[in-house]
Amino acid sequence: MDVPTYKNLINGEWIAAASGETFEDTNPADQRQVLGRFPSSGEPDVKRAIEAAEAALPGWRGASPLARGTVLLKAAAILESRADEVARDLTLEEGKTLPEAKGETLRGVAILRYFAGQTSEPSGETYPSANPATLLYTSRVPLGIVGLITPWNFPIAIPIWKAAPALAFGNTVVIKPAALTPLTAQHIVECLHEAGLPPGVLNLVHGSGRAVGNPLVADRRVAAISFTGSNGVGNGIAAAVQGRGGRVQCEMGGKNPVVVLEDADLDQAADLTIAGAFRSTGQKCTATSRVIVLQPVLEAFTEKVLARARALKVGPGIETGTWMGPQVSADQQKTVLDYIEIGKREGAELVLGGGALTHDHFAHGYYVEPTVFTKVRNTMRIAQEEIFGPVLAIIPAADRAEALRLANQVEFGLSASVCTRDLRKALEFVQGIEAGIVHVNGETAGAEPQVPFGGFKASGTFMREQGKAARDFYTQIKTVYLDLPPA
Ligand code: UN1
Repeated sequence: MDVPTYKNLINGEWIAAASGETFEDTNPADQRQVLGRFPSSGEPDVKRAIEAAEAALPGWRGASPLARGTVLLKAAAILESRADEVARDLTLEEGKTLPEAKGETLRGVAILRYFAGQTSEPSGETYPSANPATLLYTSRVPLGIVGLITPWNFPIAIPIWKAAPALAFGNTVVIKPAALTPLTAQHIVECLHEAGLPPGVLNLVHGSGRAVGNPLVADRRVAAISFTGSNGVGNGIAAAVQGRGGRVQCEMGGKNPVVVLEDADLDQAADLTIAGAFRSTGQKCTATSRVIVLQPVLEAFTEKVLARARALKVGPGIETGTWMGPQVSADQQKTVLDYIEIGKREGAELVLGGGALTHDHFAHGYYVEPTVFTKVRNTMRIAQEEIFGPVLAIIPAADRAEALRLANQVEFGLSASVCTRDLRKALEFVQGIEAGIVHVNGETAGAEPQVPFGGFKASGTFMREQGKAARDFYTQIKTVYLDLPPA
């Protein structure tokens, strides 16, 4: 089969990397399948993209917000009409199952529509002035050029939840998508381009973090960077951007707990733990990687989780009936398997899974079995560090106070859930937990576009994404004192 070659989008034109070189996009369920070749871009391509974004800025910034919203609505309709094709490509290049991929694609459509709607919301406030004749008001204005560096695990939803508000509020954009998932980025950018964005408003530069991300982050013309990914990379980006006076938003790791109290509905608790831990093969920053269970229900809950985890059908995400696909890459598979060895060495009890799947149709994919550890102590590395794989740690707690303490004794604070029928205990948890997102009787993963998304502590850099918070990030405030000349 012919392997298609894709290009960068710079100033409204599809062009190859200056280097003339490409990299391959492969299927993690079968690494023999090459899905496409993408430009191996570098600094010259980034500079061209920034120049295009700079030239396009006055026109886009000056356009009516409503006109910008109309382009986003058109892009939503185009993406919706291609949802099946886009979802298929997402499954093929990232590995998540087809229903998850379709769900994510339609979520992308919903996010585009939400931010299109935001373009007709108020963009400032009026205030009384000390001088009664003064019209005193604020106006939210775009930042300028923004750089978006997006991850492979939600390659539709996250680029859209960054690009849609950036564009809606009048910025121009250079996007560097994850090198493991360039094809879905291609689809999104094609939809926005075909919807009628003027040349240079949205520029796509494929390539590695080092070759493309670094020059984008370093360039003083780029007013802001929004990044989602690992703490190692994100902290470096935050320091670099802040060091040159830019605005930065980093969404990073999680070590999200479900806390199961003694009065919880254990079937509900087991279902939401399984979904949180193993959907998308555990590759979500919001995944449930710890479940902290009160002693009286520990045994019954563990049995329910194990029965469900044993029944999960692992396989290629493209096959009907598959519940869990492969890891995204060989590196990711190795990291997860290494953590499983660490857990065993630390003395946690491995009660399910723990290995790679390599037989039959698993032979060419990066599969890891759904894995459960019990008797996990909070000080163990598998209870503290983000694994980003299908590995669940069950941690016993003597009482509610200990459960909350264990839930908080990690460096991360993205998402958390408590399972209980008792409203008082639920609210006690909501108040005590150090997390940016809290669920009561719900899965730790998931995010709706109309509310802020982001974490406490090492999970992020305070600036939230989505909802009204996106406007705060992608705009700055101009305060206007308007006085009349003497009559
Ligand atoms: C979700 O839980 O549906 O990279 C979204 C991540 C997060 C997004 C999670 N920034 O996994």
